[in-house]
Order: sequence, then C-alpha cells, then structure tokens
Amino acid sequence: MTGNPLWPHLATIVKIVDETPDVKTFRVVLDDPGARENFRHRPGQVALLSVFGQGEATISISSSPTRRDYLEFSVRRVGRLTGALHQFEEGYKIGLRGPYGNGFPLEELRGRDLLFVGGGIGLAPLRSLINYVLDRRDDFGSVEIVYGARSVADLCFKEELFTVWPKAPGVRVYTTIDRPEYGWDGHVGFVPAYLAELAPSGAGRYALICGPPIMIRLVLQELAGLGFPPERIVTTLELKMKCGIGKCGRCNIGSTMVCTEGPVFNLARLQALPPEY
Ligand code: FES
Repeated sequence: MTGNPLWPHLATIVKIVDETPDVKTFRVVLDDPGARENFRHRPGQVALLSVFGQGEATISISSSPTRRDYLEFSVRRVGRLTGALHQFEEGYKIGLRGPYGNGFPLEELRGRDLLFVGGGIGLAPLRSLINYVLDRRDDFGSVEIVYGARSVADLCFKEELFTVWPKAPGVRVYTTIDRPEYGWDGHVGFVPAYLAELAPSGAGRYALICGPPIMIRLVLQELAGLGFPPERIVTTLELKMKCGIGKCGRCNIGSTMVCTEGPVFNLARLQALPPEY
C-alpha cells in the first residue's frame, strides 16, 4: 500500500461468517479504489484493523491474494477491540493498514509437496496460502492438510475443510478434535499426536505450521523427528506482532524483531534465536 504506512484506510465490511462460537470471518473492501488497487499482500502477511474508539489489532489476512475483490480476516473474540468488532454488522466501517511482515516463502515453495499443520484459529494464515496454492494448482505439488480444534464447533472454515479442499486435485485433508464428541466419527486426539500417527515423509516436502504456541512447539519437534530438515519447516509467529512496523518494541525475540524480520520463520532460523518463541 502506498502513502504513510501508519495511515489507516477506511474499509467496509461486506460479509460476516460465523466460523465458531468465538471466531468470525470479516470480508472487507477498501473504500478508496486506489488503495484497493495498491493493496498487494502475500499469504502469511498481516494487517492492522482499527475499530474507531477502541484501538487497533494485528490480524492475519486469511484470504488469498489470488482473490483480488476483497480481503478477509478471521477474528477470535478475546478482548475489548475484538469484542466490539464481533458486534459489527455488514455495512459497518473499520480502519485498515498494511500489509505487514514477510509472508510465506512462495518462491521456495513453488513445485514442492506441501504439508499444512494447523490448530484452531491458526488455520487462518494457512488458509490464505492453501487457497493461493489451489488457485495456482499447477505450480505446486501434493497438498496435505492436518488440522485440529478442541471440538467440532471450534473447527474453522468448515465448508472449505469438509467440502471444497478435499475435492481439489492432489489434496488430502485430515481433521481431528481434542476429545470424543457425540456425532463425530472422525479422528480424536491432539494435532501433534495425529501427525505422529500419519507420519508424513519429510522427503522433499515443506511443512507450514500455525496454531497455539504449545502446538507449534510439539509439531516442530515431531516434524524434525520425521526427517523434515529445519530449513523446510516453516511457521509464523504473528501472535507476537503489535504495531507491525518496528516501532513499539514488543515483538522481539532476543535482538530479532518479529514484525520486521518475520512473522514467518523457518526452524533453522528459530533455532538460532533465544528459546522464547
Ligand atoms: S510489532 Fe511493534 S516493534 Fe514489532
């Protein structure tokens, strides 16, 4: 986006989807046609959404840049700002600035088999990349998606998860919930344990991970054990980002700023950082 990077643009909410009891996806369109045209993001980047009178929050862009007509943000209700946003209806205005961060390494991923591992709302940034890959299907190899949440109600993007993605060529989707539930005949268990059962080969494949910090840590260990080299295990630390542009000093790990150098890092890079991620 051109102009002052701190200057939010007005955007209109054009669609709201209830994903889970505490997650909604907001589809927004920037009001200014020039700003809309200039907004070019990569999967894995974030934007700062502002709710007037409440403040702003860093939210990952969950739509693919291949779908140019809108941007989508999947927001969990966790505090005052996100609580206010959850009260909004279609037609309401928000502020939006960005995109920020490095995003996923698309050039490295091209031609590769991909394994996505997500937990809960952590599927949001991966969804941007999954739909990017599916919209450019010939540019990538096989796609496996391992995703879990606490319960069926907590699974995000259910239509894509159960209907759209499994029908796409060369895509397999594995879904799990943490505990048994009446009516669910799918897999039960935590994501890292399910991954250990599935035991995908690390040969030539990239793994892309996002979820709760504890899940990320366990999945990183699991993948290393399955033979994925650290350079091909990629995760995003977007939850650490606040201002998004290197000003607030709240995202550092040692001397590394997540917002200016990440939020996407491979495991080789993370292993060189203090173990506080
Ligand atoms: S998010 Fe503010 S300095 Fe990085």
